[in-house]
Amino acid sequence: MNHLLSQYIKGSLSLNNHLVMAPMTRSRAINNIPNALMAEYYAQRSGAGLIITEGTSPTKDGLGYCRIPGMYSQEQIDGWRLTTDAVHKKGGKIFLQLMHTGRISHIANMPEGAKVIGASNIKAAGQMYTDVIGMQEHSEPEALTSEGIQEAIDGYVLASENAIRAGFDGVELHGANGYLIEQFLNPNTNNRTDVFGGSIENRASFVLQIAEKMADAIGKEKIGAKFSPYSTFNDMQAYDKDEVHQTYAYLAEKLNDLDIAYIHLGLGPGVQQKTLNVIRTNFTGTLILNGGFTPESAEITLTNNAADLIAFGRSYLANPDYERRLGKDAPLNSADFNNFYTAGKEGYTDYPFLQNN
Ligand SMILES: Cc1cc2nc3c(=O)[nH]c(=O)nc-3n(C[C@H](O)[C@H](O)[C@H](O)COP(=O)(O)O)c2cc1C
Repeated sequence: MNHLLSQYIKGSLSLNNHLVMAPMTRSRAINNIPNALMAEYYAQRSGAGLIITEGTSPTKDGLGYCRIPGMYSQEQIDGWRLTTDAVHKKGGKIFLQLMHTGRISHIANMPEGAKVIGASNIKAAGQMYTDVIGMQEHSEPEALTSEGIQEAIDGYVLASENAIRAGFDGVELHGANGYLIEQFLNPNTNNRTDVFGGSIENRASFVLQIAEKMADAIGKEKIGAKFSPYSTFNDMQAYDKDEVHQTYAYLAEKLNDLDIAYIHLGLGPGVQQKTLNVIRTNFTGTLILNGGFTPESAEITLTNNAADLIAFGRSYLANPDYERRLGKDAPLNSADFNNFYTAGKEGYTDYPFLQNN
C-alpha cells in the first residue's frame, strides 16, 4: 500500500495519505442541525487523508431527505464547528459536501416554507422514505424561475462562505447522483428554453456559475466537484453517449480553467473509459476516483496514474481506523446496512476499532 498510505501534496492540498472518506448521508442531524454525535463519528475517521462530509444542503429547499444537515443558519455553522474542530485536533482535513436534493425530495421531509424545486417540473420516478408518513412517491418539483436560479446559486455561495466560517478546509459541489446540479446537466430532467437549458454549455452553466462565484467568495483552491457520468441513479435517464462524453469533457476543461482543487468521480456500471481519460487529460488538478474500490485496485489505479486519490465509502463507514487496518493488513468490519440512515449511534459511532496490538 505504498501509494495509498503515503503523504499527498499537490497545489494547496496537503494530506496525510491518499485515502479519502467518500461523502455519505447518515441522517443523524436532528432538525437539520449538525451535532456532537456527528463530530464524534467524523473524528473517529480523521485518519483518512481527506474526509468529505455527507451531503449538506445549501438552502432549506435542498433538504429532501430526513435529518440531513444544512449550512444556511448560524446554528448549523456552530453545529458543524464541533466536527471541524474535532477532526483538525486529530490532524485530519475535511471538506463539506454541498448537496441540493432538488426533485429527489418529499415535502414531508422539509421544514416549513421550503419548496421542492428542479431545473424543470419533471417528477422523479420511485419512492423515498419520510419519517412522518413512511414511503412516498417523490414530490413533483416546481421549475425554477430565472430569479429562483439566481437565489439557488446565491444559496450555494453563502453556504460555502458559511463552511469556511465553520472551519472547513473547503467545499465539494455535489454534481452527481441525480441531485439538483445533475438535474440541470441531464437533458431528460432539463427542458428549459432559457440560457440554462438546451446546449451542453447552457446545461453546464448552472454548476459553472456556482463554481465561479464560489471561487470569488472563498478561493478556487477550496473547491472540489463530484460528478457521476453515465450514472442512472435517482431516475437519471441515460442519454446519447457522445453527448454525455462531451458534457464531462467540457466540464473538466472549464473547471481546469477555473483551477479548482479537485474533481471527484463516482464510478458505476456503464461508465466509459474514454470519458475518464478525457477528464484526466483536460483537468490537471487532483482527480479523485470512487466506487467499488478495494485497497488492491486502488493501489493499482494510483500506480498507473489514473487518479491522484481514491475515495472509499462503505469501507470507511464500517472501519473508523480503515487506514490503520490497511497498514497492518488487519481484517475489516462489515457495514451494517440496516443502520445507514437511522437516528442515533447504533451502526454509526459503535464500529469497533482495531485492538492495540
Ligand atoms: C450510506 C451511504 C450514503 C451515501 N450518501 C452520499 C452523499 O451524501 N453524497 C454522495 O456524493 N455520495 C453518497 N454516497 C455514495 C458514496 O459517496 C460512494 O460513491 C459509494 O458508497 C461508492 O463507494 P464505495 O464502493 O467505496 O462504498 C453514499 C453511499 C452510502 C453507502
